[in-house]
Amino acid sequence: MTLRKAILTTLKERKGEWVSGELLSSCHDVSRTAVWKQVKRLLEEGYIIESAPKKGYRLKTDPDILLPEEICSSLVTKRFGRENYVYYPETDSTNDRAKLLATQGYPEGTVVVAEMQRAGRGRRGRTWYSPANRGIYVSIILRPALPSHQISRIPLVTAVAVAETLNSELDLQALIKWPNDILIGGKKIAGILAEAATDMDSIEYVVVGIGLNISNDINEFPADLRMPATSVQAEQGRLASRTDILRALLYNMEIRYEQLLRGDFKETLAKARTLSMLLGQEVRLESKGDYIIGEAIEINSDGFLLVRDKQGTIRTVMSGEVDLLSSIP
Ligand code: BTN
Repeated sequence: MTLRKAILTTLKERKGEWVSGELLSSCHDVSRTAVWKQVKRLLEEGYIIESAPKKGYRLKTDPDILLPEEICSSLVTKRFGRENYVYYPETDSTNDRAKLLATQGYPEGTVVVAEMQRAGRGRRGRTWYSPANRGIYVSIILRPALPSHQISRIPLVTAVAVAETLNSELDLQALIKWPNDILIGGKKIAGILAEAATDMDSIEYVVVGIGLNISNDINEFPADLRMPATSVQAEQGRLASRTDILRALLYNMEIRYEQLLRGDFKETLAKARTLSMLLGQEVRLESKGDYIIGEAIEINSDGFLLVRDKQGTIRTVMSGEVDLLSSIP
């Protein structure tokens, strides 16, 4: 065990109590300066530790940081994040990191998390606003034994898991805007970026990246976002715990993904249809620079959207930009 971990463990065992520097140094057989160095490091990581002369150190609350120590011990997943949980205080993009790890052979269920992304990526070359400690920026490496034509099921499985997490854990009313957006009251709270490496008819890996706005103020989002944004805190009007939400998200994602691997996509599809904000609505679909107006009538078993256009032709949309006609200014 590293000295950092040993000191953190002692402080955690006595959370809320003062622990003297002397006790920490004798317990771990190091100097008081060495103890202080580690406390300083923990403070930099986001732990809230008070220090006072003659009293020592006191760990105040559980920090809302996504360090492995804070997440992994109470994960209830079987695989996701169990063996491989890769944490960055700051990185360019967790999807880029995860893709690199996937090419290096990291296994299915590897979870890559960052507190902040310098170059968070959204779909269609957009950026994902990723300020420090206010959101969840997570990517999961999947190696599904599925034929590649079923690959579009994965973003849908993810969208269902994200919406379920928000709705069942936090009592929100999140809906899915096919294929990859999660909205509450017309505002975007989460986005999904799935990137795959395929080989003939098989899938080498899929990296599923999820960006979830947690404690952002509604006014802080960049003005040029494609649609208005919101966060868990803005919707609930109170502080939200990123650690709890990440654990629940990984669990829900694993359950849905395992169902998919077992060949049971029916339930997820039914849920996606129930949670869809587009079905039965007039939509505008952008396809190769053209706009098509029609009614979104179905999400099919490949995860594609079916739109009946004005001429009555049913278009199968594999990916792209679809908006509710009523939300377009
Ligand atoms: C979108 O709505 O356009 C998709 C946004 C996906 C953002 C997440 S944040 C974690 C992961 N890393 C990235 O660079 N992007 C995804």
